[in-house]
Amino acid sequence: EYRSVVTGIGGYLPERVLTNEDLSKMVDTDDQWITERTGIKSRHIAADDQLTSDLGVHAAHAAMKDAGVSVDDIDLIICATATPDKTFPATAAIIQAKLGVTNGAAFDVQAVCSGFVFAMATADNYLARGQFKRALVIGAETFSRIIDWSDRGTCVLFGDGAGAVVLERQDPDEAGESGVLGAHLRTDGRYVDLLHVDGGPSSTQTVGHLRMVGNQVFKHAVNKISESVRQVVEDTDIGLENIDWIVPHQANQRILSAVARNLGIEENRIVSTVDRHGNTSAASVPLALSELNRSGKLNKGDLVLIEAIGGGLSWGAALFRL
Ligand code: ACO
Repeated sequence: EYRSVVTGIGGYLPERVLTNEDLSKMVDTDDQWITERTGIKSRHIAADDQLTSDLGVHAAHAAMKDAGVSVDDIDLIICATATPDKTFPATAAIIQAKLGVTNGAAFDVQAVCSGFVFAMATADNYLARGQFKRALVIGAETFSRIIDWSDRGTCVLFGDGAGAVVLERQDPDEAGESGVLGAHLRTDGRYVDLLHVDGGPSSTQTVGHLRMVGNQVFKHAVNKISESVRQVVEDTDIGLENIDWIVPHQANQRILSAVARNLGIEENRIVSTVDRHGNTSAASVPLALSELNRSGKLNKGDLVLIEAIGGGLSWGAALFRL
């Protein structure tokens, strides 16, 4: 069996920034409420002519540059998104065309905010079986397009963006200690109604808007994320204390802190971008990863754990060594 090794990381944020102050002019809210309840101060919003695929293309280029590979080296594109350009084809296919990749396959993974963790695990399985050589795993979202901008309970939480990694198949000799070491994925569809979009091709023939019972999702988040983290650590036999970086889905600073307390992890090992990005759904983990990468703190050999929870409910965690 082969190893899948992360060889490049990139991110992209649209230029336009929407602050809490801006939001307070749109709905009945204020900076203090948003900051205290979520830790979010600002978020980025895609330009009117920027599609999810455009954000994904930017992130993909950044990841390929970081890896030192070109479009001709890519033979698998998996895009995690809940805000596709079109109902079909897959946004990954549109990204493939925009990048000029003509090899291999491209498809989307839909697990909402957990999408990137699910996509990484999916790509890892294909590469480990030797079916593809080099994957772009992308998380790209334009949640601004499915937000009900009159609902103060949700519109303050989300932002747009994209992140990507290059995942490469290597022989165990070449990979050494590096590679994806394990993943734990879960879904419990009994909670579909806690976080969903009230539209779709088969049900309403409309796009619909995001609906969330925030306080209920919050209650599930801490326990379910902790469950996945514990499971991955147990499966891989790597003690939590040996993990260098935890890169969580950036939904809410209170959730990040509660998970840290619950697992006994010091906050300086937990990457947080939620104050500047808000919740970018499937893009949040690779975006946070790319910020960590750009900060220069990430080193070859570091153990990185990613985790997320989102609509479904779906949740999971994955562990890799750089
Ligand atoms: N500004 C001011 N007041 C507000 C706002 C706002 N933006 N939004 C809600 N309120 C009010 C509510 O109307 C309510 O008022 P009431 O008591 O008079 O009825 C009060 O604040 C409390 O509302 P709750 O929803 O109970 O507030 P809570 O403390 O739970 O915080 C929040 C809400 C921030 C949404 C929180 O529940 C949360 O973060 N939940 C988790 C969401 C999440 O993590 N989702 C991510 C996972 S899935 C995904 O990423 C897609």
